[in-house]
Amino acid sequence: MTQAVKGNGRPIIARDLVRNFGRTVAVDHLSFEVRAGEIYGLLGPNGAGKTTTVKMVSGLLPPTQGEVEVFGFDPLNQPIEVKSRIGLVPEDHILYESLTPREFFDFIASIRQLDQWETKQRITSLVDAFEFRDHYDKPIAALSHGNRQKASILSAIIHDPPLLVLDEPFSGLDARTVRVFKDILNIHLENGGGILFSSHILEVAESLCDRIGIIDDGKMVAEGTVDELREMVKAHGSLEEIFLRAVQQDTEVAETVQALRKALAKENKR
Ligand SMILES: Nc1ncnc2c1ncn2[C@@H]1O[C@H](COP(=O)(O)OP(=O)(O)OP(=O)(O)O)[C@@H](O)[C@H]1O
Ligand SMILES: [Mg+2]
Repeated sequence: MTQAVKGNGRPIIARDLVRNFGRTVAVDHLSFEVRAGEIYGLLGPNGAGKTTTVKMVSGLLPPTQGEVEVFGFDPLNQPIEVKSRIGLVPEDHILYESLTPREFFDFIASIRQLDQWETKQRITSLVDAFEFRDHYDKPIAALSHGNRQKASILSAIIHDPPLLVLDEPFSGLDARTVRVFKDILNIHLENGGGILFSSHILEVAESLCDRIGIIDDGKMVAEGTVDELREMVKAHGSLEEIFLRAVQQDTEVAETVQALRKALAKENKR
C-alpha cells in the first residue's frame, strides 16, 4: 500500500528547534527523530507546543532557531520534496467547504499529478474502509465533525506518503473508525513509513506509539518507550500516570479533585 521511503535520511530529524511568538516561547530547544517504520507520539498539556512543532516539521511555520530535515530535505527551502512525502492531518481542518469530498480528492489528485487509475482504486478502498460513501457527494460544509475529520484524513493519505504527520487525528472519530484508522497506520508502518503523531488520548498513544516525547512549555521533559518513560519518571501503571508525573501535574490533579469534592459536597447540601 504505502510506497517505500523515497528520499534519503530519516523521516524526521528536528534539531534544537525554537519558535517564539512575540514574548511567548512556544517551542524551546526541542530535538527529536522519527525513524522509518516508527510511530513517534508527541504528548503534552494544552499549549505545550505540539501543533507549533508539527507546523515547523510540515513547512507551515519557520523556526525561530534550529532546523528540521524531512527525509534529508528542508521543509522551508525544499517544499515540493517535503510536501510530496508528507501526509498532514492538521489540528484545524483545511478543507474547501463548497466542494464535495469527491471533488476535493480529485482536486488533490490533480495538483499532485497522481496516476488517475491507481488513485481511484486507492480512494475507493479507503472510502469503503471508512464507511464514507454516503458522504462522498455532500458539500464538505454539511458534514458532521467526525465526517470532516474522516475527509481530512483521507485527503492526507491519498498520495500514499511515506511520512504521516497527524495532529490530534482521532478527534471526533467513532470507535469503528478509530479501529480502522489504527489498522491503516499499522499497515503504513509495516511498509516502512514513519508517523509523527500528537494526541491527548493517552490510551491510543500507549497502544500505538513506539516512542513518545512528552513536552511541557515547549521543552522535552521525557522521551522513550512507555517502559523507559515509566522507569524515567518512577511512575507505575498507565501512560496517564506517567504523563501526569512527567509534567508534574499528578499532585496538582489530586489536590484539585479534593478541592472540587469539597465544593460539590457543599453544593449538594443546599
Ligand atoms: N500564531 C500564534 N500566535 C501567538 N501565539 C501562539 C500562536 N500559535 C501558538 N501560540 C502559542 O504557542 C504556545 C504553544 O501552542 P501550540 O498550539 O503549539 O500548543 P499545543 O501543544 O498544540 O496545545 P493543544 O494541546 O491545546 O493543541 C501556546 O502558548 C500558544 O498560545
Ligand atoms: Mg495543538
